[in-house]
Amino acid sequence: MNSSKPFHFAGHDTVALAQEYGTPLYVMSEDLIRQQCRSIREALLEKHPGSRAAYASKAYLSMAMCRIIESEGLCLDVVSGGELYTAREAGFPMERIILHGNNKSEEELTMAVEFGVGRVVVDHLEEINLLEALAAEKDRPMDIQIRIVPEVEGKTHRHIMTGQKDSKFGIPLVPEVIEKAVQSAMDSPHIKLKGFHFHLGSNLFQQEIYVEAIQRVMKLCHHLKQTLGYEAEEINAGGGYGIRYTEADQPQPPSWYTDAIMETVQKMAKELSLKQPNVIIEPGRWIAGEAGITLYTIGTIKEIPEVRTYVSVDGGLPDNIRPALYNARYDAVVANKADQPKTQTVTIAGKCCETGDILIYDLKTPPLERGDILAVLSTGAYGESMANNYNRLPRPATIMLKGEEVRVVNRRETYEDLLRREREADIS
Ligand SMILES: Cc1ncc(COP(=O)(O)O)c(C=O)c1O
Repeated sequence: MNSSKPFHFAGHDTVALAQEYGTPLYVMSEDLIRQQCRSIREALLEKHPGSRAAYASKAYLSMAMCRIIESEGLCLDVVSGGELYTAREAGFPMERIILHGNNKSEEELTMAVEFGVGRVVVDHLEEINLLEALAAEKDRPMDIQIRIVPEVEGKTHRHIMTGQKDSKFGIPLVPEVIEKAVQSAMDSPHIKLKGFHFHLGSNLFQQEIYVEAIQRVMKLCHHLKQTLGYEAEEINAGGGYGIRYTEADQPQPPSWYTDAIMETVQKMAKELSLKQPNVIIEPGRWIAGEAGITLYTIGTIKEIPEVRTYVSVDGGLPDNIRPALYNARYDAVVANKADQPKTQTVTIAGKCCETGDILIYDLKTPPLERGDILAVLSTGAYGESMANNYNRLPRPATIMLKGEEVRVVNRRETYEDLLRREREADIS
């Protein structure tokens, strides 16, 4: 293997990391995560006192990540009992948690009440009644936001669009329906309605859709003040900021989105004579995405003359389902040949028994051979968090880089791990 000039990520030789920790390997950079958190703080929190930013933990979650987010002063958006439990076990302050979900179970809502989470984002009218009953049982006050559907369509893959009318998330933008939800919250003695939430979708590169959604929510706030005398204290504008996967992507700094959001909130509040609500944002991908890469070892190389060359790696769909799930595009570097001219075009295939298990089509590379190390870039978001055991492939280890230090934050699964639940079921 020629390792004349290895590819470096966050100051580390990735070929050496692959040799030491094995492949497939998720590599996260704490320094890059912190850098992203800082730019979110500068874009919103420092400019606009009262505003808050929650990291959307579905993008990548571990106890190590919770501790980084906590120390950066951000809140945490969780969407299930499992994410909430992880945050609590990591010692994350519960008052900085925002709990989402379009179908929260009674068990999850009970956890939210018992743990004392900062906000529950209510997704359905029924949930207000259920939460009130649970909060009353424990005599605990609960702060909520109501998720609404702003009926704004972002340009992104259909599977990650959420702001459109036809969506399983949130309460439709029909005044009578929202009035009913707001009235129900106002009538619930243990519930305090803090305001409204929307999330337009993921990997969005448009500013105007955030402006449009804010305008609609502010008009709704005005309507509710007129009809019910209710005035919102906060608006949660969700996440969705796009990142660089390939050269075709032109990511923007978070201030590009937040400045537009804040200007619209300020302008509309003035125009409609409303108290200016505090703004909350929930970026996930933007914080974790470019802070992670995945290292693979190249195995079989199969050339089909006049068709394509398949280069197979030792992972694929189970560690990164995004290409199969929604045609996500990635770029990659041959880590041990980073300085060699890219003279050929190949297709990077995973090792699963699925024709659709292709990580990258038409990647330009130097000549390849078995044992080369491939670094797929920008896999920090929705990679490990969406991992599965299809074909009973053990899940990779995750390492976290910080300066010169390397920590294993999630060890590689073993074949025994794959059998653990079966064996335990046998015992019981
Ligand atoms: C409610 C909510 N907030 C925030 C996010 C984070 O989105 P992104 O990772 O694109 O920033 C999501 C993603 O699905 C979401 O559903």
